[in-house]
Amino acid sequence: MIKKNEADDAVKVEGVGKYFGSQPDLVKALDHVSVNIKRNEFFTLLGPSGCGKTTLLRLIAGFESPSFGQILLDDKDITHLPPYKRSVNTVFQNYALFPHLTVAQNISFGLEMLNKPKDEIEQTVNEMLALVHMEELKDRRTDQISGGQQQRVALARALAPKPDVLLLDEPLSALDYKLRRGMQIELKRLQLETGITFIFVTHDQEEALTMSDRIAVMSNGHILQVGSPDEIYYKPTKRFVADFIGESNFVEANISSLDKKKKQATIQFEGSKKKFTVGMPANKFADKTAMVFIRPEHTQLKASSQGAAMTGRLTDRIFFGTDTNYHLMLDNGETFIVRSQNTIHSNFNPAIGDRLGIFLEEDALQILED
Ligand SMILES: Nc1ncnc2c1ncn2[C@@H]1O[C@H](COP(=O)(O)OP(=O)(O)OP(=O)(O)O)[C@@H](O)[C@H]1O
Ligand SMILES: [Mg+2]
Repeated sequence: MIKKNEADDAVKVEGVGKYFGSQPDLVKALDHVSVNIKRNEFFTLLGPSGCGKTTLLRLIAGFESPSFGQILLDDKDITHLPPYKRSVNTVFQNYALFPHLTVAQNISFGLEMLNKPKDEIEQTVNEMLALVHMEELKDRRTDQISGGQQQRVALARALAPKPDVLLLDEPLSALDYKLRRGMQIELKRLQLETGITFIFVTHDQEEALTMSDRIAVMSNGHILQVGSPDEIYYKPTKRFVADFIGESNFVEANISSLDKKKKQATIQFEGSKKKFTVGMPANKFADKTAMVFIRPEHTQLKASSQGAAMTGRLTDRIFFGTDTNYHLMLDNGETFIVRSQNTIHSNFNPAIGDRLGIFLEEDALQILED
C-alpha cells in the first residue's frame, strides 16, 4: 500500500517504445513515450482507437516488454520484472471473471494464489465486498449477476491484494449510459478511499474530464499533452487535443504584426476591423495567416454586427435544453458554432438566415501547434 516519504511518482515511463513486427510491416505502437504518474493520482490515458493505450498499460503491467526505454515503479527499475513481481493489478475490459465461482471466491482467488493466511483472506474479502457494496450477493455465481455487478466484482478482485497501482482498461465501456455514470462516481470513491494510484484508459473524453486528476492525450503512439482536465480543455497545446476534446472552432485570421520576443501576434478576422493580440508558437513565426482556436461557449452572439470580431449568417440552431448551439456561416464560407446558455427571460430569438455579430474576448483566442 502507500509508503510514506518516498518519491512522489508512483510510475515513471522513460523514453519507452514498443514496436511490433519488422519492416516493411513495422508497427510503432508506442514511440518515445515519457510520463510520470504521481502517487494516489487518478491518471487517465485518453485517445482514439489504436493510439497505444492498451500497449502502454500492458508494458506497465509487465505483460509485454518495451522495445526500448525504462519503466520505474517507486523509483525501482521494473522494465524486465515479470507481472507477478510488480505491485500492479489490472482490471480488463471484459472483466475475465471465473463464471463458475461465486462473487466471494472470485475475490479471494488472487489472495489464495499469494498463500495469504485463511483468516486474513476472509477479512480482506469482507472488506472488499463492503467496498463495492456486494455483500448480499457474495455467494452468487458470477454468471448469474448483472454486468454492472460483474464490474464491481472485477474491481474488488483487482483491489484485494492491495496493489500500489491499479490499471483499468476501458472498464466501463460495456455498461449502459446510466450504469456507467453511476460506476464513474463509484470508481472515483474507491480510488479516494483506498489511496491506490489508478491508471485508467478510455476513449471517452467526457469520462476522462469528469474522473481524472490528470489526463494524457495520446495519438498515434505518442503522448501529445499531459495536464489537469481544465488545462487540457482550456489550454490545449496542439490542434489534435483541441479537436479531440469538446467542441471547437478553427478560424483563419490575418496576421498584421508579430512580436517574436513576446511570442505574440496581432490578428484580424476577415471583414472586421477589430484587432486581437494572441500568443504565437515559435514554429509558426513564418506564417502569414493563423488558424485560431475558439471554444463555442467562449463567444457571444448579437443581432448587431457593430464592433464584432466576425459576422455570419445563422444556418442552424440546435437546442440542448441547458444550451443552444447556433451554427453560422462566416463570410469565407466556413462554419462557426456559438454555444449559448439558455435563460427563461432571454428575448434573443434570431431566425435562420439572419446576419449576426460574433463577439469574443481576447483570452478566448489561441493559436495552436499542429
Ligand atoms: N501484438 C501486436 N502485433 C502487432 N500490432 C499490434 C499488436 N498489439 C497492438 N498492435 C498495434 O499497435 C497499435 C496500438 O494498439 P493498442 O491496442 O495499444 O491501441 P488502443 O489505444 O488500446 O486502441 P483501442 O482503443 O482500440 O483499444 C495498433 O495499431 C495495433 O494494431
Ligand atoms: Mg485498447
